[in-house]
Amino acid sequence: MARTFFVGGNFKLNGNKQSIKEIVERINKASIPQNVEVVLCPPAPYLDYAAGLVSKPQVSVGAQNAYYKAAGAFTGENSVEQIKDVGAKWVIIGHSERRTLFKETDEEVAEKTKFALDQGLGVILCIGETLEEKKAGVTLKVVETQLNAVIAQVKDWSNVVVAYEPVWAIGTGLAATPEDAQDIHASIRKYLSEKLGADVAEKTRILYGGSANGSNAVTFKDKKDVDGFLVGGASLKPEFVDIINSRN
Ligand code: G3P
Repeated sequence: MARTFFVGGNFKLNGNKQSIKEIVERINKASIPQNVEVVLCPPAPYLDYAAGLVSKPQVSVGAQNAYYKAAGAFTGENSVEQIKDVGAKWVIIGHSERRTLFKETDEEVAEKTKFALDQGLGVILCIGETLEEKKAGVTLKVVETQLNAVIAQVKDWSNVVVAYEPVWAIGTGLAATPEDAQDIHASIRKYLSEKLGADVAEKTRILYGGSANGSNAVTFKDKKDVDGFLVGGASLKPEFVDIINSRN
């Protein structure tokens, strides 16, 4: 079974009602194949607004983070139930900015992933190495360690999309080469097969993230283990449509 092409737009801490309306309306007007899945992840205050603007069945909205408790005295956190309540279908968990700036551990990422899945949200699970780890030649060890924490808690991966985002490529304009991305994606898929079985590994979509843009996305087209993109800066721009259509 072919894995459907998946493109996430991580708006990060950017935008306002006007700019988010422009982005969603641009996607609504664009020609997007039925078999491409698009998830728009605006800042939390705009989830409800963005969900109400989306008009294409293959486009949904997602949150950029969610807590691992249902409700209660957790000031400032995002609740999975409330994210679902406003119409979001996905949540990004474990983004490198959560891991570095907000000190999220592999175990916390795993707990958030399990809770969100158990509550019925799809999870875009981010993994990836730092420049120092890349230079030290421990990329695979790092991503396998990050995956292990989730594998220990999550057995049903049918609603998990993995996003490999080398930290050194995020926001730098220096994307990984399609060849390097393919090699690491293939290793991630092999590792998932060893740990969860060939069927899960074959069905799990693995996205590339890190300076993907309207020009380079098409160069990943023939990379069989690159199933889509998680896009930051370029998701705010018209070229995001080119990334979505880069497999056509
Ligand atoms: O989550 C996607 C993001 O980390 C990639 O950012 O701006 O390099 O596409 P960017």
